Parts: sequence; C-alpha cells; structure tokens
Amino acid sequence: MKEQELIALLNDLSLEEKVMQLVQLPGVAYESGAAVTGLLNDTAKARTLRLAGSTLGIWGAEKLNRLQRQYMENHPHHIPLLMMLDVIHGHKTVFPCPLGQGATFDPELTEQAAAVQAREAAADGIHVTFSPMADLSRDARWGRVMESTGEDKYLNGRMAAAMVRGYQGEDLKSGASVAACVKHFAAYGAAEAGRDYQNTELSEHTLREQYLPAYQCGVEAGARLVMSSFNTWDGVPSSANPWLMQTVLRQEMGFDGVVISDWNAVGELVPHGIARDEKEAALLAMRAGIDIDMCSGCYEKHLQELVEEGKVSRDMLDAAVLRVLKLKNELGLFEDPFHGANPEKAQAVLGAGEHRALARKAAAEALVLLKNEKEALPLKGKKIAFIGPYADEKHLQSAWAISTDREDSVTVWQAAREAFGQDAELRCAPGCLMLAEGTTTSLEVFTCPDAEKENARLLSEAKAAAAWADTVVLCLGEHFMQTGESASRVDIGLPEPQKRLLNALKPDCKCLATLIFCGRPLTLKEECDLSDALMICWLPGTEGGHGIMDVLTGHEAPSGKLPMSFPRHVGQEPLHYDQYMTGRPRPREGIGSFTSHYLDCPNDALYPFGFGLTYTDFRVSEIRLSGEALSQTSELTAAVTLTNIGKYAGTAVLQLYIRDLVGSRVRPVKELKGFRRITLRPGEEKEVVFAITEPMLRFWTINRRMESEPGDFQVWIGLDSTTENTAFFTLTDKD
Ligand code: BGC
Repeated sequence: MKEQELIALLNDLSLEEKVMQLVQLPGVAYESGAAVTGLLNDTAKARTLRLAGSTLGIWGAEKLNRLQRQYMENHPHHIPLLMMLDVIHGHKTVFPCPLGQGATFDPELTEQAAAVQAREAAADGIHVTFSPMADLSRDARWGRVMESTGEDKYLNGRMAAAMVRGYQGEDLKSGASVAACVKHFAAYGAAEAGRDYQNTELSEHTLREQYLPAYQCGVEAGARLVMSSFNTWDGVPSSANPWLMQTVLRQEMGFDGVVISDWNAVGELVPHGIARDEKEAALLAMRAGIDIDMCSGCYEKHLQELVEEGKVSRDMLDAAVLRVLKLKNELGLFEDPFHGANPEKAQAVLGAGEHRALARKAAAEALVLLKNEKEALPLKGKKIAFIGPYADEKHLQSAWAISTDREDSVTVWQAAREAFGQDAELRCAPGCLMLAEGTTTSLEVFTCPDAEKENARLLSEAKAAAAWADTVVLCLGEHFMQTGESASRVDIGLPEPQKRLLNALKPDCKCLATLIFCGRPLTLKEECDLSDALMICWLPGTEGGHGIMDVLTGHEAPSGKLPMSFPRHVGQEPLHYDQYMTGRPRPREGIGSFTSHYLDCPNDALYPFGFGLTYTDFRVSEIRLSGEALSQTSELTAAVTLTNIGKYAGTAVLQLYIRDLVGSRVRPVKELKGFRRITLRPGEEKEVVFAITEPMLRFWTINRRMESEPGDFQVWIGLDSTTENTAFFTLTDKD
C-alpha cells in the first residue's frame, strides 16, 4: 500500500478500531495451546481478539492462516493481524543460546543463524520476533544473561546488528523474513543485585556510554520495533519515560518504528506506584510513546475514554496507529496477509538439513575451552565414559525455545556413538539427579520421591564406569530453567548433587574432561581444579551433541571466547573487565591495604572476558602502529603478526582494546574496540591490521556530549582482555 492509502485507511477507522490497533492480546485469547510467556491475568483469557491489532505466543502456519482469515473477515476494515513470537535462539532448529552465540565472536555466523530462524518462523506464520535482546549483562546472578551476548557493549552491538540483519533480510515482504524487535529498552540488564525486574541505579553517563550503544546498533541496523523494559531508570519505569522513549530513542537515535511495551509493563506502572490506576497507566504510557500495549489491557480498557476526554490527543493516537499500520504494510500484509506462510512450506523449511548443519557449526563455535592439561582433549583414550545428568539430556535449549521440539535434539551420548561407531568402547551413566530436592527453578520446585537413594544408586553405577574408562567426559550443568526470565540466583555454582558427583568420581578417573552446560557464568574453581580439561558448552541447541563431539574428537578446534567474566566468587558480581578507573587501584604485587580490593578474594576473574583456549598455541607479535598520532579525520593502523606455533590448525580471536589515559570523566581501564577471527594452519602466520579512528574514542564527556578528547591513549592487541601487549598513541587537537 502507498503511504497515502495507509493514511486514508487510518482516517477511515473508528476510534475503537484505532485504539485496538495498539492492543496486543496473548494467543490464549484465541487458542488454548498457545504459550504464555509472562504473567497472565484472568481477564486476558476471557477477552476476545475481535479487533486487537496483534497477538503473540502462537505459531503454526495452518493455525495462524486460519486465524488470519477469520480475523480479517470479522474486522470492519479487513486489516490483517500481526503475529509475534519470541524466537530467541531458534524456532524449530535451535542455535546456542545468545550468550553462547556471544562466545563465538562471529557476527557473520549469528547473522546466518538469525536468517535461518526467520525463515523457519516466517514459514510457520510469524511476522515479528522479540529479538535481539541487546541488554548489557554484567551480573551473572541475573538469569537473563543467557539471552544476552554478554558484558561488552561493542560485542553486543555487533551481535544485535547481525541479528537484526539476519531476521529482516533484504526485504521484509519476503516470506523468509521477520521484523526484529530490539529489547528491553533500556538498561534492563542492570537490575539491582541481579534480581529480575528490579530497579536500576545508573548515572546518565554509564547509561549512555555502556548501556545504550548496543540498542543503538540494533536500531541503526534497521530494527522495525523496540520493546520498553520492565525496570526503572532514574526513578521512572521505561514504559512511562518520555525522555528515554522519545528524546533518546526517537530523536537522538532516529528510531521511526513501533515501540511495544514488555508483557504487562503498562499495567505494572500501578504496582510501581507511578500510576494511581490502570487508566493513568495507559495515559502515562501513551505520553511516553508506547505504541502497543502488550497484554496489560490498559489501552483496551481506557485509551478510548482518554482520547474522548482529550487527555490523549487524536494526533498522538493517530501517529501511533500509523506506525503499526506501516509495519503491517512493510511486511506486505495488506497484499499477502499470510506473509507467504503455508503448511507445505513450513514442512519443507522447519528443521531443514542445512539449518541443522548451521546449528551444528554454531554449537561447535560457541564452545569455550578453559583448561586442557595432560592433553586430555581431543579425546584419545580407547574406553570413554560419558557421565553426568547432561550426558544423555535432550533439553539443550533455554526456556525461551518455546516453539521447538526437544525430541529433535542430539545428545552428547547419541553423538558420541555416531562419532566413534557402534563397536567403540563407550559407556554412559547419568551419575546423579540434575538438581537437589527442593531446588526452585523459574517455574517449579524440583522433587524426587527418594532422591538420596536414587543418587546413591546412580553414583555406584557411575563410579564403575569411571574406573573402567581411560577418559571420563563428565557432563554437568545448570537445569535449563535455572536461567532466563525470573531465574536470578545468589548461588551461581553447579547444583549440589553434581558437585558431589564430581568429588566422588575424581579418585576413579584416569583423565577427566568436564563439560559445563549453562546459561550464565558459574563459579567453577573447584570443578577446574579437579578436572584435566574444562569446557563451557552453554545451552548449545538442537545440534549440541554433534557440535560438542566435533570438538571433542578434534574434527573442529575449539574457538569460543568468554563473552562474560567467570568469577572466582559470586560476591565479585557484577564483575566485568571494563571497570572504571579508581583512585586506589590494587597494586600488582602485595596485599594493597587501603586500595580497592577484597580481603578474601582477588579482584580479577577466574577466567576473564575474551578468554578461551584451543588445541594449538598462538603467538602475537608486538604492535606496530602506523604513526604516533591520530588526527580527528585520519586513521591510525595497529598491526600484529599472528603465528600458529602449535601442532593443530586453530582459530584465534584477536582483540583490540583501548584506554583513554586522561579524560574529563573517569574512563574504563580498557574497552574492546575490535576483534577478528583468524584461522591458521600449524606454522602459518598472518598480519592482522586494525584501523583506529576518532569516533572509536568518543564517550559521554563532562560537556554531556558523545565526543572524543585529544590526549594520550593506550592500545592493546591480544588473545583476551588481560593481554599486556600494548602501545601508545595521541589524538591530536581539533584542526
Ligand atoms: C519478556 C520479554 C518477552 C515477552 C513476550 C516478557 O515476559 O520480558 O522478553 O519478549 O515476555 O513473551
């Protein structure tokens, strides 16, 4: 439809029809089989979809096409319904959870993965995905770190943009694309003490420098929607914050798409104590610039009245409705309300071989090898025992993989038998229950009638297998419901039965390689000390088993790097490498009394951001700068030679960090400004060149502007955030 036609349509709508374009109702209002992803208030079940402009949480081409037909027939202007879904790391074919994708440091791969997710979701009737989540995540206690690509704004920005490009493709109308929704705007990841939905306490400069950039990258990549967050910033919940939603998002970032609230976030303005009642909540949200009210019912019940009373202007209403109609138009729904979806296409596309092949590659690339002694990996021994609750576990996806079938997943044990053949000497034993009796996950409390007896039985079986084996591959981890929304934890260690299993098995193991499945950094000091090899597998997705075995057998070399620091102790959280400088830095040597430190724990991470081993070793040369000074308009290059000095082919992730030595505000100790994945054969070397330009040096200065300040800078290039390979340059004055 042309813009003029859209405006004509808008002008023809009744007030009720307009209001209802801004109302989103959950799929349960239409279908009993729909997924409920947030709190469901009783009225939602009873409401009809009659005129609501969008829905969420249902999928399936046949079902959605039927729904679309009925809906449009009943709609006075036959406007199509928008179908939204959380396709977070896969629809049918599931990729590693976003934190695992962060570990790949491979935005091209993430873009391809997003394109696959879009192809599957679109074929299955979906128009919009609530992804990417671009929330900076620095506190491992927060369950939703699993949905983010980590603690670094630059990496998150690259990944958010890649996801947006992948989901939306070249043309939103194509039946292979879905519109992307950047969320949760803003600073949702900074929840106090890592407790989900909590307040955030951030200065404007930290918000602007650290938290906003990744959302901005998603917006600049063309995301058609942005979701407001649950949390407050500066005392105001995002869904009632016009400064955030309009001044920052629309004016400064130039966002012209649809803003949708998070689930019931408009209604939550009441318990927040910002609105007296739901009517005032609707008013505040409209004034803040929330176009679609996701499932709270506040717009549905009160917006028409607010317009009639003149509290919400007709212009404001029309502008919001027009944005929703434009989105429908950009998706081509006025021409093809089914967006190319149909059951035959879905059947051909969902879980297609090439999608699974990409998921396998991504699962392998996401693996982060933290320790490898006694050359434990790749696997060499003849007799191998796969032990632990994750050894033959199919739930290798997060709780957000709502539209997949976990029976599609390949477990480590299945993949091992494929890899080594039926005649290989392999054994498998669960070793213990995944969780301790009484453990609370985000939705349930784990119970087992006679857990103690069951654990004792499983242990004796596992000990026999361990004593028999040359190598034990111990597959441990968090339950998939221990991360994600509403899954904050104060103890970020492995579940107790699994810790006991590791200790009990250790004396029986000749060689112990421990695999950790998780959606957050865990405290793994003991696991590391007791294991010969330790590898982080995240929640690896449908092809997890295959990806893991590709690496364990040496067909692929591990290449993932930590996207979040792994702490020594939970008390260090929030822990991130790019901390602001302090006046009392801890000295390198000695106790450092009256400096910034803990009495009972080092300051640094057990495993730092950017760290990950592979089967070979790399040498990085000193940095060669193309000059000593960078002007406001020129470019300085920083080059190193990377050499593979080991016995295996491997991939290194070279990382460029910069520090502004003196600024009008305190600067971080270092910040990631570039990275490059380089694959080399044994003995091979390559020159790698990074360009440094003035925009890379900008920050929120004392002038309250994003700008650079002339002066001296330090640059590092190395294999993780602790590299000491460094050089210096100067940014000269403005000409
Ligand atoms: C989550 C969002 C999600 C929405 C819709 C909310 O509970 O915070 O991330 O997109 O539900 O399912």
